[in-house]
This record gives sequence, C-alpha cells and structure tokens, in this order.
Amino acid sequence: MTQRVAIIGAGICGLASLKETLAEGFDAVCFEARDGLGGAWAYQAAVDPDAPSFTTSSIYLGTMMNSCRDTSAFSDFPFDPARYPDYFGHRLLVQYLCEYAAHFKLEKHVRLQTRVVSCTPQEDGGWVVVSKGVDGNEVSETYSSVIVAGGHLSTPRLPTVEGSEVFTGEMLHSHVYRTPAPYEGKRVAIVGFGSSAVDIACEIAPHAQSLHLVTRRGGWVLPRFVLGKPAEAFDNRATQLWVPAGFSQWLQTKLLDFVQGPSPPEMKPDHKILEQNPTLRGDFLEKVMTGLIKIERGDVVRMTKGGLVIKSTDKNKKKDAGTEYDLGVDVVIFATGYDMFDLPYLPPNVVHPEGSDAIDLYRLIHPLHHRNLFFHGYMELHGPLPPAAEAQARYTSAILSGKLPYPTNNEMLKGIQKLRAYQKRHFVHSDRHNATHHQIPYVDELLEALGAAPTFPRLLGQIFSSGHPLRAISVLNAVWFGIPSSAMWRLVGYGAKADLASATVIRTAGEKPTLSDKEVVLLSKE
Ligand SMILES: Cc1cc2nc3c(=O)[nH]c(=O)nc-3n(C[C@H](O)[C@H](O)[C@H](O)COP(=O)(O)OP(=O)(O)OC[C@H]3O[C@@H](n4cnc5c(N)ncnc54)[C@H](O)[C@@H]3O)c2cc1C
Ligand SMILES: NC(=O)c1ccc[n+]([C@@H]2O[C@H](COP(=O)([O-])OP(=O)(O)OC[C@H]3O[C@@H](n4cnc5c(N)ncnc54)[C@H](OP(=O)(O)O)[C@@H]3O)[C@@H](O)[C@H]2O)c1
Repeated sequence: MTQRVAIIGAGICGLASLKETLAEGFDAVCFEARDGLGGAWAYQAAVDPDAPSFTTSSIYLGTMMNSCRDTSAFSDFPFDPARYPDYFGHRLLVQYLCEYAAHFKLEKHVRLQTRVVSCTPQEDGGWVVVSKGVDGNEVSETYSSVIVAGGHLSTPRLPTVEGSEVFTGEMLHSHVYRTPAPYEGKRVAIVGFGSSAVDIACEIAPHAQSLHLVTRRGGWVLPRFVLGKPAEAFDNRATQLWVPAGFSQWLQTKLLDFVQGPSPPEMKPDHKILEQNPTLRGDFLEKVMTGLIKIERGDVVRMTKGGLVIKSTDKNKKKDAGTEYDLGVDVVIFATGYDMFDLPYLPPNVVHPEGSDAIDLYRLIHPLHHRNLFFHGYMELHGPLPPAAEAQARYTSAILSGKLPYPTNNEMLKGIQKLRAYQKRHFVHSDRHNATHHQIPYVDELLEALGAAPTFPRLLGQIFSSGHPLRAISVLNAVWFGIPSSAMWRLVGYGAKADLASATVIRTAGEKPTLSDKEVVLLSKE
C-alpha cells in the first residue's frame, strides 16, 4: 500500500518536502494554515500586536534576503538572473516559490486554510493527524509519517525585564514590526544584535529622533556586496571545507577591514567572525559612523516610566563597565529572537530533553523518541535555507522508501553528541546556536549516503568517466572555487539531474545575465 505522508506547512521546507515525497511515489498531503504558499515570506501587512500568536510571518515590508540568488535556489530550479537580482525581497521570493510549485505540480496536494491541531503517535508507528479547515470542522486522518515544516520564527522570545509594567511607552517584539512610519520623531531603543535588530535599526534610524541599539555581546555585520560580488562568493566550498577555521576567520576579517574598515570598538565582539549567525547589511556601519545609530554595549537591567536602564559592559570605557544609565525612550523593540520549538500540536518534550533547552534531534531531523516524525527547517544555518531544506526532503524521502536505513537509537545519540561537540568548537556558546550548523558540510552529510555530495574525488572522477572531460573540469572548478551554487547537489548520485546541474553551475560561474538555452530546454522538458 502507498505510504501516506502528512506535511505541515507550505513554506520553503514544506514545498521541498512535498516535491521530494511525491517524486518518491508517496501519497503526500501538505497542510497550510494560511491562504497561500510561501510560508513566512508571504508578507502579512496587518498585525495585531496584542495577539502575536495569530500571525505567523515575521517578515517586514523592507526585508531583503541575506543569502543571495545563486546560492539560495532549489538545486533543480535555478533563479533566472534576468528576472531575479543578486538579492531581493519577499515579493520575488514568493513569486519564485509559486513558480516552483507550479513547475512541479504541487498545488493540488496542498490544503490551504487548514491548520493541523494535533498529531498523535500510534502503536503501529503511524500518526493520527487532526486538522481544522475554514468551516471550523475537525478532520481526523491516519498517516504513516509526519513531516513538520511549520517554521521556527513565529513565537517571539521576550525577555522578562524588571519594571516593564511601569514603562509608559510602547514595547513590541520585532515579530510584529512592519514599517518605520509609526516611529517617526520618536526616541527608540532596539534590544538585540541579530539580523532583525540590524535591519530594523537601519530602517527606523533616519526617521527617529534617536535610535539606540543595545547589545550585550557586540557582533559582526557584513556587507551584502564585497568588491562588486555577493559576499558569499568569498566563502566557497574549498575555503569552507579545506581551509582551517582559524585561518579562514583571519582572512575574512582582513577582507572585511579592507572593504569597510575596522568596526567601532563598542560594536566589536569578543568572538571571531562567523562564530555567530551572520548578519548582512551594507549601510549599518555608515549609520553608526554618522551617529544615526548609537550602539549601547551592555545588559538591559530594568525599565523605568520613560526609559530603559542599561548596565555598561563596554570594555573601551566609553562608559565605565558596570555603570548603569537610563536611556530616555518612547519605544523599545525587542529583537531578541524566537522560540524555535513552540509546536502545540505535537506531543510534549518531543525535541528538548525535559527541563533543558538542548535539542535532541539527530541530523536536526529525527527526534530521539518518536519514529516516523521528521523535522524540516528547524536549524540556523550559516548559509541559505532552500538547498538544505531540499537535502532534508531528499534524505527523509529516502528513509521512508527504505533506500536509506532508519537510524538506530545508538546512531542517533552518537550523532547528537557529535553535533554538540562541533557547535562547541565553531560557534558562540548560547541557546541561539543550539541548532546552528555550516550549510555545506550539513547538506553534504545528508546527501553523502545517496552518493549525491559533490566531493572532490567524485567530481575528479567525472573528468575521466563522463565523456565530456572539458565540461567536467569546468564543473569541478566552479563547484570547488566559485560561488556555492546550489545546483552542485544535483550533479551526481541518487536524484541527480547532471545535465541541468552542470549547465547551471557553469552559467553561474560565468556570471551570465540570463539562464542558458540548455537550462531553458531542460527545464521545459520536465
Ligand atoms: C526577516 C527574515 C528574513 C530572513 N531571511 C532569510 C534569507 O535571506 N535566507 C534564508 O535562507 N532564510 C531567511 N530567513 C529564515 C526564514 O525563516 C526561512 O527563509 C524560511 O521562511 C523558513 O521556511 P520554512 O518553510 O521552514 O518555514 P515558514 O516559511 O515559516 O513556513 C511555515 C509554514 O507553516 C505553516 N504552519 C505552521 N503551523 C501550521 C499548522 N499547525 N498547520 C498548518 N500550517 C502550519 C505556516 O502558516 C507557514 O506558512 C529569514 C527570516 C526572517 C524572519
Ligand atoms: N535580512 C534578513 O535576511 C533577515 C532579517 C531578519 C532576520 N533574519 C533571520 O531570522 C532569524 C532570526 O533573527 P533575529 O535577529 O530575529 O533573532 P536572533 O538571530 O536569534 O538574534 C537575537 C538577538 O537578540 C539578543 N538577545 C536575546 N535575548 C536577549 C536578552 N535577554 N538581552 C539582550 N539581548 C538578547 C541575542 O544576543 P546573544 O547573541 O547575546 O544571545 C541576539 O543578538 C535568523 O535566521 C536571521 O538570519 C534574516
């Protein structure tokens, strides 16, 4: 009997999961609570700040991707450079996701405006999924497995701050921020130094009376373009996999200093570049240097009637470390991140060991204690999500079809410990980095068992075995030393589309302004 697979969410991860499970021959159904495809990228203008749980998208009107076109495509559906610039906003990304869904005929498998309200494991290994449509009726169905692709940036994480009840100004989380207009002429403080904080600070600063960005740790902010190319062009497969991390960090720091000069001391973190989730914003430093954004290095201590009290941790003595001072403000925006695993429709403690924030997810996919339940998209990657979402979908589909063996408990425990040790070596120690991984090694790890990781020996072998040695040399060179085009993961192994992938990889390396004729023909034949 054909296996029935339930997929929760029709964003990047849900659509990739739907495509790959259908391709593997499963009867797949994708549940989407909203009325369209695209997940978080489908912008929601109206937000009720008193009911943030009713909104799912954290995308603001000015959101610009921080991963670029050539690395962020699905591996077998390239962006056409004639229609998509190097970086773009939410409208174009949703357009692309709708084109992807149409190309692979996914729409008829998506149940829009249908929210999954519970998933219950059965003794035979299956799952009962209860969903609620617009008519308000609950429908209960049995599936052999469930893929959770419901996103992880919808439940704001708000710190408890003493005195917040006496503050008479406005307090909000970045989740509900949409445009800068309401903050014109106001004194604003933003807490946090991730991508949301930096973006929102840049949007509001030119309109506000004053803008303070409060950071306890400092951070690195990189420009989108370096020497005219997307920043990702300088962090290719060879540098990520071959160059020792310490040397690579030194090189990247030198490049950054060369391109935009050293960071102001109050912004400079103790940790090295790329040991935190990368933040990209070309005009941030300029706004700091011109005084539009004032960086406050310190901890939030409490709120007063009209302000936010900060305890300085500034080692550069702009304000003596330990000094407390009150920022007079009208608005405080907490850009303090999200609770990744607020999934009320799943059994309790599926992901976290009880009483801990640690994450028990083997390969960031398999929960330890529930079979036939898969998490897609619950990670923070140094690199774009779509190729990784797709790799998860290919890996899970192969597990479901028996092409790959289901991991044993022992393998899972070992794998979880291994990832924790990797994270400890490479990233800042904080809850924010519990699900962090480097994109290329992660995608390679998932696809290696399918023979689909474009390793150096594999691509070298293609020079002798493909019958097209010159083309194979160009591909090897582009994949290992060029911008990490996602098509690299369709060159070899199970699920390969070698002709299309090599055409995409070569065209991308050549920085051509449109899809090649070969790509157009191959895509039209699918
Ligand atoms: C401001 C911002 C900028 C970002 N920029 C980038 C970037 O440049 N590059 C990048 O790779 N990533 C970026 N991200 C990360 C972003 O989260 C991902 O790109 C992507 O949206 C995640 O896709 P997803 O499919 O995992 O989840 P989502 O896009 O969140 O989609 C999940 C879907 O599941 C649905 N859903 C949830 N629960 C249920 C339920 N119970 N029943 C039915 N449906 C349900 C939701 O309605 C939603 O449509 C950004 C995020 C933000 C907030
Ligand atoms: N343009 C874009 O593409 C874009 C824009 C926005 C968001 N995003 C993506 O969306 C995701 C979420 O980003 P995000 O910026 O919203 O969240 P985030 O990356 O989790 O960053 C949260 C920030 O808040 C700080 N913080 C948390 N609790 C705090 C506290 N109690 N006091 C002071 N500071 C505190 C963290 O500091 P510590 O480091 O010290 O913990 C961190 O600087 C990321 O994947 C990001 O890449 C992308």
